[in-house]
Amino acid sequence: MRTSQPQTIYLKDYEVPPFLVDHTDLRFELFEDGARVHSTLSMRRNPESAAGQPLELDGDSLELESVALDGQALSDGDYEATPASLRIDSVPDQFSLSVVTWIRPQDNTRLEGLYKSSGMFCTQCEAEGFRCITYYPDRPDVMARFRTRIEADQSRYPVLLSNGNDVERGELDDGRHYAVWEDPFPKPSYLFALVAGDLVEKKDQFTTVSGREIDLRMYVEPRNAEKCDHALVSLKKAMRWDEEVYGREYDLDIFMIVAVDDFNMGAMENKGLNIFNSSCVLASPDTATDMAFQRIESIVAHEYFHNWSGNRVTCRDWFQLSLKEGFTVFRDTQFSSDMGSPTVKRIEDASLLRTAQFAEDGGPMAHPVRPDSYMEISNFYTLTVYEKGCEVVRMIHTLLGPEQFRAGSDLYFERHDGQAVTTDDFVRAMEDASGRDLSQFRLWYEQAGTPRLTVEDEYDDAQGTYRLTIHQSVPATPGQPEKQPQHIPFAVGLIGEQGKALPLRLSADEDENDAPTQRVLELTGDSHTFTFHGLQARPVPSLLQGFSAPVRVDYPWTRDQLMFLMSHDPDGFNRWDASQRLASDVIESLMHQPKDVRTDRRLLTAYRHLLADRSLDQALVARMLQLPTVAALIEQSETADVQAIHEARRRVLTELAVELRDDLVACYRRNQESGEYRLEPEDIARRALKNTALAWLLHVKDEEGRMLAVKQFEGATNMTDRASALRALVNSDFEGDRQQALDRFYGQFKEDPQVVEQWFAIQASSPNAGSLAHVEALLEHEAFDWKNPNKIRSVVGAFAGQNLSRFHAKDGSGYRFLAKRILALDETNPQIAARLVSPLTRWRKFKNVYSEGMKSALETLRDKPDLSKDVYEVVHKSLKD
Ligand code: TRP
Ligand code: ZN
Repeated sequence: MRTSQPQTIYLKDYEVPPFLVDHTDLRFELFEDGARVHSTLSMRRNPESAAGQPLELDGDSLELESVALDGQALSDGDYEATPASLRIDSVPDQFSLSVVTWIRPQDNTRLEGLYKSSGMFCTQCEAEGFRCITYYPDRPDVMARFRTRIEADQSRYPVLLSNGNDVERGELDDGRHYAVWEDPFPKPSYLFALVAGDLVEKKDQFTTVSGREIDLRMYVEPRNAEKCDHALVSLKKAMRWDEEVYGREYDLDIFMIVAVDDFNMGAMENKGLNIFNSSCVLASPDTATDMAFQRIESIVAHEYFHNWSGNRVTCRDWFQLSLKEGFTVFRDTQFSSDMGSPTVKRIEDASLLRTAQFAEDGGPMAHPVRPDSYMEISNFYTLTVYEKGCEVVRMIHTLLGPEQFRAGSDLYFERHDGQAVTTDDFVRAMEDASGRDLSQFRLWYEQAGTPRLTVEDEYDDAQGTYRLTIHQSVPATPGQPEKQPQHIPFAVGLIGEQGKALPLRLSADEDENDAPTQRVLELTGDSHTFTFHGLQARPVPSLLQGFSAPVRVDYPWTRDQLMFLMSHDPDGFNRWDASQRLASDVIESLMHQPKDVRTDRRLLTAYRHLLADRSLDQALVARMLQLPTVAALIEQSETADVQAIHEARRRVLTELAVELRDDLVACYRRNQESGEYRLEPEDIARRALKNTALAWLLHVKDEEGRMLAVKQFEGATNMTDRASALRALVNSDFEGDRQQALDRFYGQFKEDPQVVEQWFAIQASSPNAGSLAHVEALLEHEAFDWKNPNKIRSVVGAFAGQNLSRFHAKDGSGYRFLAKRILALDETNPQIAARLVSPLTRWRKFKNVYSEGMKSALETLRDKPDLSKDVYEVVHKSLKD
């Protein structure tokens, strides 16, 4: 076991920083065996802080070479230095502190701080990586102006980058050179970045609303030179959009994007120098799928939007992480919605939330959008902080309406520009601009757990009235046994007999022509009743339209009503939701039933209609055809029996595919385009439909399907079609074709890491191909690399997170496999190791056969000596009763 328990940090203990930094002057000497970092900090005591405190700076694995105070070298007795801190007991009120540290980027496998990735130097400082570079008050409320000088070998590292403007360059002795960068905007250390490498530069330009010319530059390894266009186009769209929708203009003369292969997360918003995981920025039609193109567009926008929501206005402390992340995710979802199909975007976001975030919120790691304690902050870059945080901002948008929301965001940016603030400051700006009282709404930041709405209705024939009664309850979560009711915007509609959206009259004298067909009911108490007037017959309720709040809704729709909503609900999101509820209900009712019990014919009919309906948004149809995932079905069940869920789902899929075989072939042929690859929503929808049809046909071993798949695989002109055909073959029982396709695919793309990652993931996530033995074999493959997070995610992550029927093998082999890999990874990359624990954390949700094995895997982890703080926190919280 770990000898000491890591410390818990509490929000309630927040104190202003005792010292401020006005200016941070850095000089990096980069060598092949390490790097020397010279830092000179102009510091002063914070007038708002208690007097006389010692100076204590953060460090992490640092080797100190020298310290000087106001130019005077300090001797050993004047300070106390460990790899994790530097303390000087007596300092004047204002001083300059110079520190030299020696670090080893070459050996940095944690990928925090300064490290090397395929020959280049790069950094990742959020949240607490800067302290791996030099001693510093490494907290976001200390903001300084940075000047950075980088020195390195000229031929190996011709490109030297940091934040801000390039102010000086020159040559040095021994084939070395240097560059100096100055960032005029004060920033916290987590936004610092440095890159040095042999990179090609792709240039572009953007003219801002006020007519300023911005240089856009993308830096990538030479082999990726042809994969930059999409990111640059996305960047320009995002820059324009932020001007138009939020009135936000870019503020430096240069904006840079760098792609690196080894990266713990998706991307990082360092001021003026965004660093991306290659898989989240590089794309060409030959190598990237439609999904990857869309993801890149949204991540490029996300990081760009941080320039205002995160950088110009930043977080006071890490408990406020959702201040920048929730708001920025909201901004990027609005952007993506404007760029593509809004309904489909909403469905994608809501289904991620309902499966993965609801699971987190119902498990041992549940925490509020603004957590009140943590051991390791890296563990709190969660779906709750990002995705639920986005939903919370979205609800403010819904409650205030677009104009007042914009007034609120304008006020927020103006009031807090250059400051480090809290989620409360954000809400206050929204209140002040709109005049609305959001005090109860703030509970969304404070209470963890997914609220549940239970809805009852009553139709009064004589009065022509329809009453909806809504009860809300917020479940207990770790550390929060009692909850108060939250302020919930609940969008509803009522659908009448002919499938017409009815006017919603809340009083008898309201004119039917004035009454809207959607209302946002505001729920604030334990229960509410709303009465609708002037109805001729019992309507079908369409509840939580557009997923207006991150809550669960219980209402006993009949299967007929769900079919009715599937074809009549004017709210596209709820049409999809009805399809998922119907399919889930059918699948659940088949669990543990004898083999001869057939699938409800109504599901077949509904799907047959869908396949034929060409009037409907085809992107929506493609989504509605997807059966709920095993993960979603697990989330919906009380205690999950994974194998039974998987079997029942397969049975339904098989029956649908057999019965609808001709419709699927027709759908495939109708959507089989041959023209040039275009990324328009209609083209994406067409490919999605066609490839779903193909997957279904192969699922039932259809000969014609096989022929179509092989043909598509061989002749594909883009990666969406090629990878979909490969996936369909891999998920089929055509073993010969499967292996042949896999080999050909690898042979063709083995030089491209992003494609190899897809190749790994397709296998590891396949219930057919991805047996544990096969996954173990992939780990031995020449292209696999334990130092590369993307490879780990595409094999280990895909297996444990997506191949649920294999991962949850009843003999516990999947759990033991995962625990073993986490133990090894904990030594090299604790952030990634801790993220991989997540599939085990919800062990209580599963039937005994599973939960016992999951729990014992967690215990294996717990028993490792010197577990990282990252893994320690997740494991101990998961095992706590
Ligand atoms: N701020 C980044 C984003 O959301 C997230 C991030 C990138 C991150 N790299 C990280 C968080 C490393 C923690 C650790 O855009
Ligand atoms: Zn972000």
